[in-house]
Parts: sequence; C-alpha cells; structure tokens
Amino acid sequence: MSTKYFQSENEKEINIINFTMLEEEAKKIIPAGGYGYINGGAEDEWTLRMNTEAFNHKQIVPRSLTDVEKPDLTTTIYGEKISIPIFMTTVASHGLAHKDGEIATAKGTAAAGTIMGISTYSTKSLDEIMTASTGPKWFQLYMSKDDKFNEYMIGKAVANGAKAVILTVDATLGGYREADLKNNFIFPLPMGNLESLGEGLGQSISEIFANAKQKIGIKDIEKIVAMTDLPVIVKGIESPEDALLAIGAGAKGIYVSNHGGRQLDGGPASFDVLESIAKAVNKKVPIIFDSGVRRGQHVFKALASGADLVGIGRPAIYGLAVGGSKGVTSVFKHFAKELKIVMQLAGCQTVEDIKKAKLLSIKY
Ligand code: FNR
Ligand code: LAC
Repeated sequence: MSTKYFQSENEKEINIINFTMLEEEAKKIIPAGGYGYINGGAEDEWTLRMNTEAFNHKQIVPRSLTDVEKPDLTTTIYGEKISIPIFMTTVASHGLAHKDGEIATAKGTAAAGTIMGISTYSTKSLDEIMTASTGPKWFQLYMSKDDKFNEYMIGKAVANGAKAVILTVDATLGGYREADLKNNFIFPLPMGNLESLGEGLGQSISEIFANAKQKIGIKDIEKIVAMTDLPVIVKGIESPEDALLAIGAGAKGIYVSNHGGRQLDGGPASFDVLESIAKAVNKKVPIIFDSGVRRGQHVFKALASGADLVGIGRPAIYGLAVGGSKGVTSVFKHFAKELKIVMQLAGCQTVEDIKKAKLLSIKY
C-alpha cells in the first residue's frame, strides 16, 4: 500500500493484429498485481483455457454463392439499436488498467456504437460513468445483504438512464485464484460505489465478496425484479435448469457466462453449454453470452448457437491499458473487422442470418 499504483495514461488508437498480442502489450503496462487479477482464473485455469478452445468444437460452413456484400453488423436488443452484436461486459476496477478507468471505457464503447456494462465494483462511481458518454448503459448489481444498498444503487442507475440491470449470481464468493494469492493482491484503488461503506480499497477480492450476499436464490431475483421496471438480466447461468428458474422469477434476460473462468475451475466452457440453454429458453427472453471470446468467428459461433448479444471482458481492458478510450474503440473495431470477414465468407448478410446459420460439430 505504501508505493503508488501505476496507472496508464495512454490515449491512442491501436493497430490490433490479434488479442494474444494485445494481451502481451498490456502485460508490460499494467502492474503485476493488477494484471494477475485481470488475467487470471480459478485454480489450474483449465476452464479459463477451455472457454476459448471450445469454439473449435463447432465449425462454420463456408458459403460462397450467396450474393453477400458489405455485411451489416447492426442489431437490436431491448429496443436499442447498436452497431455491433458485441458489448462491453461488466468488469470490476478499470482503474487497474488506466487512470480514467470506466470513464474512458464508457467513452470508447459509446464511440463504437454499443452498450457499456457497469460493475458495482467499478473504480469510478456509477454517476460519473453514467454521465461520461451518451451511449447506452447497463448496470450490474452485486447484491448486498443490505436491501437499502440494492435499492439505492438501482435507483441511481434508473435516475441516470440505465437501460437494463444485470444481476450477477455466480460470484457469491470468489473462485480460488492463485495469481492473487501469489501477488498478495489487494485493491490498490478505491471503488467509487463502496467508498462510503469503507469497502474496496485495501481489501482482497474475497473480503469484498464476503460483504456481498453469499446466498442467492429465486426469491432474490424476484426481489430485484420488483425494485425496477428495467429488464433484469441474470448473469452467470450455465445450466438450462437455472435459466428456467431465473425466467420463472421474472428475469427478462439470461446471461450465459462462467465469469471468464474465474469461478468454478473444472466447469464446462461457457460456449459448450450455450446451445442447450438457448433451446430450453426457446426465445422467451434474449440470451447474452460471454467468456473466452477472442475472435470474430467466436462471436459468429455464439450467435449461431443461440446468443443475441456477446460480451467481451479482458480484451477491452487490455485495449484500455494500451490506448485509453481510443484503445477500447480499437478493440471493438477489430472484432467488427474480423466478424465482417467471417460473415462474408459464411454467406451471412445480417446478424439475423448468423442466428439462422447451421454450424457443424465434427470432432478432429
Ligand atoms: C470480471 N467479471 C465480472 N462480472 C461481473 O458480473 N461483475 C464484475 O464486477 C466482474 N469483474 C470482473 C473483473 C475482471 C478483471 C474480469 C476479467 C472479469 C466477469 C466478466 O463480466 C465476464 O463474465 C468475463 O470477463 C468474460 O470473459 P472474458 O471475455 O474476459 O474471457
Ligand atoms: C471478479 C469479480 C469482481 O471476477 O466479479 O473479480
């Protein structure tokens, strides 16, 4: 705590070749403790690795004779038209990557024409992030044991024009994350929404989670749904059973995610459970998906397997470290560039065409 935490002040467009290379660049900029927290997963990180590997379990059939030219990436979710079927998902403490934290991410995401997700555990406060750009925003709640806090945060999100509430249910405690233990990682920066509670700064992630609600069930979803007219999206669903329970409790969106491999190591890759969940949900509510997305083809495969929108976490945070708000926009632009190539080669003119595309599942 005695030495000041270094924060990048970069502000530039990035020439991205791929996200492995961007990650290497970011590693040189972000201090080791912060980088370990962002990059790491639980235990042996098997699930973390499989998240990206699993996209190879399905293949895209090339289609040439389909008259596709200049694919259209726009899509609509909860009535909101966005320029790409990808959004900035909810990641804690962007200040670890850049001095402007979520303010820069919100600007960079808005410039890319898509939705910014805001974590309860953000570095900047919810009000600051909500007013940082005019782009659409979704607020993610880590449910507190204290309902007054839950009501207060949702009230602030509504008052500032948030378009949806994400309720994360898969992190009532943190996974066993060895990078944080090796680095003795404690948050070196305040968390804008927890400051008045005396939480965040100087605590480990386990200490922060311990203050949040440890026991979450369908009654909690019902409670949050009753607090707002906004659609409540339940994040961290990995089984058809939980998806149906959440919908029964009033969820207006199912967010398939294993938290980027940070929680239950030994669990399946998020992509491998997507299709069965989408079948069970049967278009009753939109499906949002994340974990391990690093290529345009991954976005394509997720959409073709039942997702309506795809979230990206770490790649955008690396873009933030390397290029500030402009770097975040570069990350979205790179995904768009790859996705357009895939769409053209797979014969898909629109996002709706991708959703109808049939993938193969050949085992190599
Ligand atoms: C997260 N994630 C997360 N999720 C959430 O609902 N609230 C949060 O505050 C956080 N915080 C957080 C911090 C960091 C550093 C990471 C990497 C992730 C999980 C996140 O929303 C998302 O599920 C994963 O990041 C998706 O995986 P990829 O794209 O990082 O592989
Ligand atoms: C994490 C939290 C904050 O994964 O969701 O570290």
